[in-house]
Amino acid sequence: MAGNREFFNRRLHSLLGVIPVGLFLVQHLVVNHFATGGEESFNNAAHFMESLPFRIFLETFVIYLPLLFHAIYGLYIAFTAKNNTSRFGFFRNWMFMLQRVTGVITLVFVAWHVWETRVAAAFGAEVNFQMMENILSNPFMFWFYIIGVISAIFHFANGLWSFLVSWGITVSPRSQVISTYVTIGIFIALSIVGVRALTAFI
Ligand code: HEM
Repeated sequence: MAGNREFFNRRLHSLLGVIPVGLFLVQHLVVNHFATGGEESFNNAAHFMESLPFRIFLETFVIYLPLLFHAIYGLYIAFTAKNNTSRFGFFRNWMFMLQRVTGVITLVFVAWHVWETRVAAAFGAEVNFQMMENILSNPFMFWFYIIGVISAIFHFANGLWSFLVSWGITVSPRSQVISTYVTIGIFIALSIVGVRALTAFI
C-alpha cells in the first residue's frame, strides 16, 4: 500500500514538473523576452498575461498548487536521495546530483521572485518594465536572477531527460543518447532567451 502511494507520488511529481510547471516556465521566458523589443513591447506582453480571464483560478491551479506539490515532494526526494557521484564519476550521476542542487536553488529563487513581484502586486505595486529595471540595476540582484533563471532552465531541461525515461518513452541506450543532445539543445536555447531578457532591463 505504502509502495503504491510512493509510486503514485513519484509519477505525479514527474508529470507536474513538465505539465504544467515546465510549460509555464517556457511561456514565462517567452513573455519576458519581449523586453528585448523595449519598454512598451514588454509592458504590452505583461499586460496581456495579467488580463487573462480567470487569472486567479489559472494561477492557483496551473502554477501555484502544481509547483508547491513538485517543490515540497522534490525537497523530500532531494534530501533522501543517495548522491553517488563520489563513487561513480559518470556524466549521468553528475546530472542526477545537479538536478537536486538546481531544484533547491530554483526554490529559493522562485520564492523570492514571487514575493517581490506577484505578492508586491497584490499589495498594489505595478509589475512592469520599470519595476524589473529597478530590481536588476542592483548588481547583486542581477546575478541572483541570472543564477536563478539558469538553474530553473537547467532543472527543467535535465528533468525532461529523466521524465522521458521515467515514462518509458526513451528506453534504449541510443534513444537516451539522442535525448541527451536534444535536452542540451533545449537548455542552451532557453538560456539564451532567459539571459537576453534579463540583460534587456539594464
Ligand atoms: C521552475 C520550476 C520547476 C520545474 C519546471 C521543474 C521540472 C522538473 C522536471 C521536468 C523534473 C523531471 C521529472 C522526472 O524525473 O520524471 C523534475 C525533477 C525533480 N525536481 Fe523539479 N522542477 C521545478 C522546481 C523544483 C523545485 C522548486 C524543487 C525543490 C527542491 C524540485 C525538485 C526536483 C527533484 C528532486 C527532481 C528529481 C526527481 C527524481 O529524480 O525522481 N523541482 N523537475
